[in-house]
Amino acid sequence: MKMKIAIVAAEAFPYAKTGGLADVAGSLPKALEKLGCEVKLFIPKYSSIDENKYGLRYNWTIGEMPIRVNGYVRSVHLHQATLPDSNVEVNFIDCPHYFHRGRIYTNDSDEDERFILFSKSVIETLQRLKWTPDVINCNDWQTGLIPLYLKDNYKWDRMFDNTATLFTIHNIGYQGRFSKSTLLAAEIRGNLFYPNGPVEHDGSVSFMKTGILFSEIINTVSNTYSHEILTPEYGAGLDAVLRSRKEDLFGVLNGVDYNEWNPETDKYIPFHYSLKDMSGKIKNKKFLLEHFNMPFNENIPLIGIVSRIVEQKGFDIFSEALNSIMGLNAQWIILGSGEEHYEDLFRMLHKHLPQKISAYLGFNNELSHLIEAASDIFLMPSRYEPCGLNQIYSLKYGTVPVVKKTGGLADTVKDWDEEMHFGFTHGNGFSFYDHSGFALYKSTERAVNAFSTKEVWNKIMYNGMNSDFSWQRSAEKYIELYKLAVLKHRELFT
Ligand code: ADP
Ligand code: GLC
Repeated sequence: MKMKIAIVAAEAFPYAKTGGLADVAGSLPKALEKLGCEVKLFIPKYSSIDENKYGLRYNWTIGEMPIRVNGYVRSVHLHQATLPDSNVEVNFIDCPHYFHRGRIYTNDSDEDERFILFSKSVIETLQRLKWTPDVINCNDWQTGLIPLYLKDNYKWDRMFDNTATLFTIHNIGYQGRFSKSTLLAAEIRGNLFYPNGPVEHDGSVSFMKTGILFSEIINTVSNTYSHEILTPEYGAGLDAVLRSRKEDLFGVLNGVDYNEWNPETDKYIPFHYSLKDMSGKIKNKKFLLEHFNMPFNENIPLIGIVSRIVEQKGFDIFSEALNSIMGLNAQWIILGSGEEHYEDLFRMLHKHLPQKISAYLGFNNELSHLIEAASDIFLMPSRYEPCGLNQIYSLKYGTVPVVKKTGGLADTVKDWDEEMHFGFTHGNGFSFYDHSGFALYKSTERAVNAFSTKEVWNKIMYNGMNSDFSWQRSAEKYIELYKLAVLKHRELFT
């Protein structure tokens, strides 16, 4: 019998995306389906999702579902579509009051209510679809209440007797913490909230902690990060909680969708290329530099950054190293949006050094592909990085990554010099250990120097382009975890 898996996330590509979670939620279901699972994906229906473009259909059988949040009954309905290149059914939970706000995540005072509604609606949709999943794979804090709801509020419904949960942590830094009043809004039993209790963290209600403690199995998105989060340095206050579930915590490296991210077929880049014929890469570089009114010189490396511009991504050490890295003989193109002071920094740099550095401050999917294809070097100096996808895309595009050795960056990028043994190396990039401007500068300098020796550079690019991070292997590991979750559930409840 086919394993039935519900994947629940706050964003999924191509419908709604702010970061890597969307890439994963949009591609893992397809890989699972290929391996024989029956998969349904659940995301909120934000107003930005174009119904016509993606062929959304209103589900008339279900009609309007009354869902209670914070004492009010909201009317929720369901749209459905099929995930491109698959038969995966996508279920869009629509509640205009909460999701038609022009942003996926907000700082509004009812942010808790938005995802309480989403979590309840997913469960009530499953009831109405009469589809019992073997496992609900929840992702990040927005879905953290689902495991608790199944074990408590919706326990009465025998259709979920055999449904287990896997909670996937994409970033422990974002925890969904709210004031005690959220208990009432979410209809969580008051006796679960007490100091160090299962839904309490430092006086607040924590959706992330709830997800961690009520799921059968937990995983995060790389092996190294699964160890790092057990330490106070990386655990963001939840390390002790995670240590208490160490036996049930696993690391599975994200895969990537090479149908979307492949320089041979990428629909967003003007010139395709491959290991056999690399000539398109330099044409893309010329094209991109011209687009930004920057001079083109094939001997000067172009360094790309595509990132949320937040502290996590290492912009603190970037700023610290600014004088020295701007002294390197390289050009820079940055795509991203986020914290204002860093955005201002890039505006200022572009104003003073327009030939050397340009920045597009916003979200632009097409440009993110073009930067991957056109750049020679890709910088990702993250303070911590659960997995990171851009360095993996970079490898495929022959764009040599320079990264800090942390989380998924450490698991995917192998330092050219460190890996060197008797003149032979599998190195595919450059990396550094210290979270310091100096370490960042030294690694970037090593990359810039290596760029000028074509033989070396070609070998580094070759090693990267040859590596394979497609989903197959990782999706097989998810299936193992789903099976483990089912077993664990059986042990606990029969
Ligand atoms: P995170 O999820 O922490 O932001 P990842 O490296 O896992 O980091 O994934 C980021 C994803 O978001 C990548 O697909 C990247 O191309 C995309 N991305 C980030 N910022 C932008 C942007 N400003 N415009 C377009 N795509 C972006
Ligand atoms: C988070 C992490 C990132 C990871 C992504 C997808 O946004 O910050 O490292 O790649 O989720 O799992």
